[in-house]
Amino acid sequence: MTESVRLNLVMVDIHHHLLPGLDDGSTDLQTSVAMARMAAEDGITHIVATPHANGSYAYDPVGNQALLQTLRETLAAEGVSITLGLGCDFHLSYDNIQGARTDPRRYTINATDYLLIELPDFAIPPQMEESFYDLRLAGTHLILTHPERNPVLQKHPKRLAEWVQQGMLVQVTTSSVLGHMGPVAEKMAHKLLSDRSVHFLATDAHNTGRRPPKMRAACELVAKKYGTDYANLICRENPLAVFEGRSLPAQPQSEHVYEEPKRSFFQRLFGK
Ligand SMILES: [Fe+2]
Repeated sequence: MTESVRLNLVMVDIHHHLLPGLDDGSTDLQTSVAMARMAAEDGITHIVATPHANGSYAYDPVGNQALLQTLRETLAAEGVSITLGLGCDFHLSYDNIQGARTDPRRYTINATDYLLIELPDFAIPPQMEESFYDLRLAGTHLILTHPERNPVLQKHPKRLAEWVQQGMLVQVTTSSVLGHMGPVAEKMAHKLLSDRSVHFLATDAHNTGRRPPKMRAACELVAKKYGTDYANLICRENPLAVFEGRSLPAQPQSEHVYEEPKRSFFQRLFGK
């Protein structure tokens, strides 16, 4: 099978709260099986299970690996065909950063160099860039989860644009692309897509209801609006490279990364 044929057969979700009973994602094994089945029916072939690693949820990679194995066996018995991997939804707390500096593969996707990071919602301190620097020195490639849903970055997109210029990889949520996360997230998701500043689509699935494990509709919309090549890149090629721990292929040039959002007359008048 050629590489391009293989790529057309995969759809890879690198952000998914599939493991049961660990966080605000799947509540039990039955729900995890239902989520995996729904994902497989949607065409998803690979899922990285990414439980939260933050102050609210204890992070235990050894326990998570055992849980993943139980889920693999259950899915095989239930006839659900999907390839599972393991990572975490890494919150940028002091403890996590110190932990990742000494042992990054405790947190990365499939013990590769790729680390999924989530920003705080209501304040991004100026020293955040230092944390990125420290994590990069530890050898990780950072993938920022759903910036389009972050209220601070929605107001200050230039900050994200600078990070992208510095090599930050960006994951946008499928439901934002479809408008299910509100109009502000939808607009920012499409601005990032049209600027070619998105490297991955992923579901960030939490359940089979409001935050479902589906990628196909969003990938098809991206193909329609921004071209099949770009959709394939961010739904198949890039996430498969991450899953398998390979370098990403050449990426399109990001556009408008230094552009400030337009300010209203009153904002300009009062210097805001
Ligand atoms: Fe998440």
